[in-house]
Amino acid sequence: MARQYFVGGNFKMNPTTREQKRALIKILNSADIDPQTEVVIAPPSLYLIPVLELLRKDIKVAAQNCHAKASGAFTGEISAVQLVDAGVPYVILGHSERRSLFHETSEIVAAKTRAALDAGLKIILCVGETLEEREGGKTQDVVQAQLKAVIAVLKPEDWSRIVIAYEPVWAIGTGKVATAAQAQETHAETRTFLASAVSPAIAESTRIIYGGSVTASNCNNITCQADVDGFLVGGASLKPEFVDIINARR
Ligand code: G3H
Repeated sequence: MARQYFVGGNFKMNPTTREQKRALIKILNSADIDPQTEVVIAPPSLYLIPVLELLRKDIKVAAQNCHAKASGAFTGEISAVQLVDAGVPYVILGHSERRSLFHETSEIVAAKTRAALDAGLKIILCVGETLEEREGGKTQDVVQAQLKAVIAVLKPEDWSRIVIAYEPVWAIGTGKVATAAQAQETHAETRTFLASAVSPAIAESTRIIYGGSVTASNCNNITCQADVDGFLVGGASLKPEFVDIINARR
């Protein structure tokens, strides 16, 4: 069965006012969106509940992070159980900003993934290499190591709730988008890895999306690559052009 095209919008710590947040929702609510595409937006946690209330129901909502524990003395954190209770269906885990700025190891990402799955969430699982690692020929070593930690905690039935986002760190927020060939090569190698580390069927059915400086003007070449199943968009998800990225496969 063909993998459904997936476009996520990671708002990160944006926008800075509720008025701007409402304006973004207004654009999406009035947009003509390809019904074949699964669309998920990830606003800051403060806005999750109002976005759930305001947003059209064919666009889903994701948190940008969650804690591995269900509750307790973890000041500033939100649990997967709380997200599910609030009606949030997705969470982004393992984003490179969480890994680098907030010191999340692959083991922490794996524990969060397990907790999120147990609570009932779907996961956008981010992996990707730094420029130094790419230039040192280590892209697959890094991506596979990040994936192996999570694979170790997954059961076969969990995979239908996992979307892998390949996000090379050197492409995030830099304006240096991967070429279509670079994205395709890494996605294909990652799928081959999944076939041997998990199973050929799961490798075939799991969506691998690309993130890193995606815009409406550069997404068309990448989206037609065989192993690219969509995008995780940062900066451009805060602009009207996000709708064009959603509709890139139309
Ligand atoms: O999660 C999204 C990625 O970090 C990409 O961000 O599109 O601003 O480069 P960007």
